[in-house]
Amino acid sequence: MAIRDILIWPNPILATKAEPVVTIDEDLKRVALDMVETMYAARGIGLAANQIGITKRLVVIDLNSEEDEEHDPALGPHIFINPVITAREGSVLWEEGCLSVPGEVGDVERSANITLCYNDLNGDEITVDASELMAVCIQHELDHLNGVVFPERMHDRSRAREIRLAMKSFKSS
Ligand code: NI
Repeated sequence: MAIRDILIWPNPILATKAEPVVTIDEDLKRVALDMVETMYAARGIGLAANQIGITKRLVVIDLNSEEDEEHDPALGPHIFINPVITAREGSVLWEEGCLSVPGEVGDVERSANITLCYNDLNGDEITVDASELMAVCIQHELDHLNGVVFPERMHDRSRAREIRLAMKSFKSS
């Protein structure tokens, strides 16, 4: 596995709509495992393939915190291929951050409960219900696949502009 570079918003690849995954082959599996490793190295809870420059519909999520000795498999690591939200209910305001928008957070309105359909690495079709942080994280990552990054969803437009300006002067170390 390898740690990949994470693109910083507003990189144009982050504004690109990702293409469906057609074949789940060894290349795709390697990319997915690299994404998990990259997410852990950056101490994130989710990563979309766009964020490492690959415009395919592939997302990884792990809500387990490093401090927890008990690793809850319900929290991850999850690998979602061609994920689609098939049902939504309610709304929730959540303070979000993003590995492509380092050091910044902002409130975003999301659906409170969702149903997600996706393919796993075996190509099996899976349907799951999600709420709270998992639902928010899935919606955030699926936005990436559609070329949308969280400041573009913020109701506070002046704060979103401040974040965009901050990113212009951000230099990746
Ligand atoms: Ni993000």
